[in-house]
Amino acid sequence: MSSFSINVNGKAVSADIQPRTHLADFLREKLNLTGTHIGCEHGVCGACTLLVDGVPTRSCITFAVACQQAEVTTIEGLDDDDIARELRAAFTKEHGLQCGYCTPGMIVSARDVVLRMDDPSERDIRVAMSGNLCRCTGYVGIVRAIQQVVRDRRGRGLAAIPNGNRTRLGPSGSGNAAAVSAAAAPTPVARPARQASAVQAPAAAGATLKDPNWKPQTTFEQSFTVEHPVDEVWEFFSNIGAVAACLPGTSLAGEPVDGHVDGQIKIKVGPISAEFQGVADVSRDDATRTGTIVGAGKDKRSNSSTRGLISYAVKPGAGPGQTKVDLNIGFTLTGALAQFSRSGLVQDVASRIIAVFVQNLEARLAHKGDGGAGAPPTMKEFDAGALMRTMAVDYVKRAFRKVFGGG
Ligand code: FES
Ligand code: FES
Repeated sequence: MSSFSINVNGKAVSADIQPRTHLADFLREKLNLTGTHIGCEHGVCGACTLLVDGVPTRSCITFAVACQQAEVTTIEGLDDDDIARELRAAFTKEHGLQCGYCTPGMIVSARDVVLRMDDPSERDIRVAMSGNLCRCTGYVGIVRAIQQVVRDRRGRGLAAIPNGNRTRLGPSGSGNAAAVSAAAAPTPVARPARQASAVQAPAAAGATLKDPNWKPQTTFEQSFTVEHPVDEVWEFFSNIGAVAACLPGTSLAGEPVDGHVDGQIKIKVGPISAEFQGVADVSRDDATRTGTIVGAGKDKRSNSSTRGLISYAVKPGAGPGQTKVDLNIGFTLTGALAQFSRSGLVQDVASRIIAVFVQNLEARLAHKGDGGAGAPPTMKEFDAGALMRTMAVDYVKRAFRKVFGGG
């Protein structure tokens, strides 16, 4: 983690973040400034454009820690800005937006055009705005809106500011970035260092499980309730193989020995498939009905590694015969799949995994008389996208039933 301080929309902000966190993620996830949109995350589409020290900047390819002490202005910070206000009205009048996804970045770049260019031609505007892509409007309305604001302002005697008061053009960032300490600044050696400490193979992963200094990058909490008594659920949780069988996409390499087990988890999110091979240490405390699972694994194909800690507490639920399970989940994902560790996406996938886990758990508890043999088989690979589609179909079916009645 690196400590850094910036000013966002006029307010001083300090935070501890991973050096690799880009500015857009920092603003959206830590400050909830979701007006900064993320499209390509490659510096191509311009959806994430904002101002760093007054200069339009791609926040998806700008490390947050490189903006040490910078003045960052997001679209939210332009609420009371004269040019942005005039542009919003002109975009509305000229149909310069449809879905609005590109609009915050468009407004930031358009504001720069209005600020800097005295009498831009249509071609000048198109060239200046060529770093902002819109998939809806066809650009005609956007260009007209910018032309209108330039015309109106010049007509009111408001001249352009040559270069928008910039002392330089080119790659933007904080003029203070040079003051960032070597420890805080992202350097080319940071990535190899992370990879070197990542899990290399299940055998090596065992060693990393014991690292007392490890702290998860992302943590969140989830709870679920099952319709079975607390003693029954707690006893079920003592059987690691049975618990693993309820987790979609999970399989164990063999029987657990002294709470230590090798296994794998297969997961699919959209076109991305990953197969994490790894190890886990499991411990539990009968007195408090709490337990922990510490695991680490590696997906060879994407060269991604993950390490996680799940703490759980099993307690009586609100209703008779119900059990509530509270989970605290912390994990770190490194390598090519790290881009999917954005907390919103991970929590969404985790919620889906847990929903399936609870279904399987209920089914196995209901069939405990036959050792779970009558329970439906667990998915061999967890497909978050397919589950999302199934849930959508179920939702539509339920809505139809509600409106039209019947089966
Ligand atoms: S999301 Fe930053 S340029 Fe596309
Ligand atoms: S208005 Fe939809 S992407 Fe531009």
